Amino acid sequence: MPERFTITTPIYYPNDRLHIGHAYTTVAADALARFHRLRGEDVFFVTGTDEHGQKIEDRAGKVGKTPIAYVDEIVADIRDLWQVLGISHDDFIRTTEPRHERVVQEVFRRLEAKGDLYLSQYEGWYCTPCESFWVEGKLVDGKCPSCGGPVARLNEESYFFRLSRYAEPLLKYIESNPEFIQPVSRRNEMVQFIRQGLEDLSVSRTSFSWGIPLPQDPRHIAYVWVDALTNYITACGYLQDEERFRRFWPADVHLVGKEIVRFHAVIWPAILLSLDLPLPKVVYGHGWLLLGEQKMSKSRGNVIDPRQLVQRYGRDAVRYYLLREVPFGADGNYTEDALILRTNVDLANDLGNLLSRTTAMLERFTGGTIPASGRSSLRQQAEETVGRVEERLARLQVSDAVAAVFDLVKRANKYIEEEAPWQLHRAGDPRLGDVLYDLAESLRVIAILLKPFLLDAPDAIFRQLGLGGAQDASLADAAWGGLPAGTQVQRGEPIFPRIETEREGEAAATKAPVKSAGNTLPANDEADMISIDEFQRLDLRVGTILEATPVKGADRLLQLTVDLGEPEPRTVVSGIAEYYRPDALAGTQIVLVANLQPAKIRGVISHGMILAGKTAQVLQIVSPREPLPPGTQIK
Ligand code: MSP
Repeated sequence: MPERFTITTPIYYPNDRLHIGHAYTTVAADALARFHRLRGEDVFFVTGTDEHGQKIEDRAGKVGKTPIAYVDEIVADIRDLWQVLGISHDDFIRTTEPRHERVVQEVFRRLEAKGDLYLSQYEGWYCTPCESFWVEGKLVDGKCPSCGGPVARLNEESYFFRLSRYAEPLLKYIESNPEFIQPVSRRNEMVQFIRQGLEDLSVSRTSFSWGIPLPQDPRHIAYVWVDALTNYITACGYLQDEERFRRFWPADVHLVGKEIVRFHAVIWPAILLSLDLPLPKVVYGHGWLLLGEQKMSKSRGNVIDPRQLVQRYGRDAVRYYLLREVPFGADGNYTEDALILRTNVDLANDLGNLLSRTTAMLERFTGGTIPASGRSSLRQQAEETVGRVEERLARLQVSDAVAAVFDLVKRANKYIEEEAPWQLHRAGDPRLGDVLYDLAESLRVIAILLKPFLLDAPDAIFRQLGLGGAQDASLADAAWGGLPAGTQVQRGEPIFPRIETEREGEAAATKAPVKSAGNTLPANDEADMISIDEFQRLDLRVGTILEATPVKGADRLLQLTVDLGEPEPRTVVSGIAEYYRPDALAGTQIVLVANLQPAKIRGVISHGMILAGKTAQVLQIVSPREPLPPGTQIK
């Protein structure tokens, strides 16, 4: 029997459309689920919706709908969102389903049988957005300490769960299971919280009706958090399918946002202890996506719609950004610029170029046939990368795991520059086959390792390598050497076209000199000015000089071999021989007018012109202040 892996997301409130904060958790859980499937494990990945409670009842009332009609619509929208993002959950649980209502009622019976339930009076405060009870002393300036919103005074009859009884057992459990609450900072917070002593928890309400009635006293509605947390065991088959339940419970990971760790690491385990059920292995509280300084949240109205981003940039770009940008566990700022930059640099430039350069070189040098390989220089790093991804995901370091794959991408790109396959080709060097095999095989391994994170790119890479789709590839297939010699590559479209932004257009506009009265700078005549469109016809790109040699019979000229991120380097003839020694130029970055018509200069065809500034005394090549990937466009 394969190992099993159970992972959950919080079940979301269907009180409004979800935003990228929710997508963040769900995409991360999806990546982990996909990774464990890639390892051949029997995965159970569950998400769903938390549909009861005062918040939903109030919301529905406001728009004149019944609660169920209200949530039905939003739940349909949430399911659709998960489809748009390619979420691969095995179950979607709604707390309004009969299977769940039965379990919640039985849980209340069992808590009572255990002596953990008693009737009393609740007097204190309630935060409806958080569905949380607060004692006076915990309020901050009279507001909810969790969301900062207003709280309401409650004074009603309520059943209580003897949470106080479980403080000691919980502390012991946390101590002997250091993995239980992660990251460590959240564990420390929880330990401190429990050490202050736990008060019994009000677990029923009588002042509204949208929820599950207690079997022992149907005037009382189950507290929505007890209802919600129970979803995890309902989904695993508790009291419905004991065999399935034994297989999939306890969960390996409850992935949640940091604001609800308290519910998952204190209240939930106490309930499970009372029910004599095993506790989840890990509760991981990740950080927040912030917009400016603030948590993105529906009540603040500062939310970003993930669907729009997918429409604009594609699902892989959005998933990649969510998984890669913020170190998992920490808070991070969302900006669309960062999403665009990630896509352009990592996906379009590094990964996309690696694929297009590799397939182009294979087409040109071997007629598209994967050569047999003798010695490999990338094998070790590829193998280490597989290990690194496994190890980092085992510790739920999602962004670091993605980064490990992209380190291999970078290494392979560097390898192209180091080995200069075009030179090996020209020289008839037999190492060419090894180098090309290394590159294609690395791409195959990269595609497999990306399967948990990206959905379309791995398939596209496999197809371009001539391997059909990647859907059947498992982690075991990432072992080096799986690419058969003789496979025919099928070069295709760039897998991640660069995203051009309107802002780039604006930036270009600022390059036009501004005319103003008293301007001492030489002001251009209107007639001399060019339009932005004319400027944009210039294709200026960063290149790296690979080699510089004198041009025979021409004192002022050097012949440069320039890496422009294209499959083959360019030859450029440049009048800089009086200013630079040829042997000092290798590695220098330049800016090239890349779409200049080729010209024959002293018998050498020059494909472009490098930019330089010249005074009476000196000439300086224009270089980016910091290195940029070859091929980067200058705007
Ligand atoms: N219904 C409860 C959870 C019950 S679980 C038994 C709930 N729902 S929620 O709709 O408010 O979703 C909260 C969760 O959504 C967070 O814990 C987190 O996983 C995710 N996020 C919501 N906003 C977020 C950010 N701005 N950033 C990161 N994650 C965010 O709480």
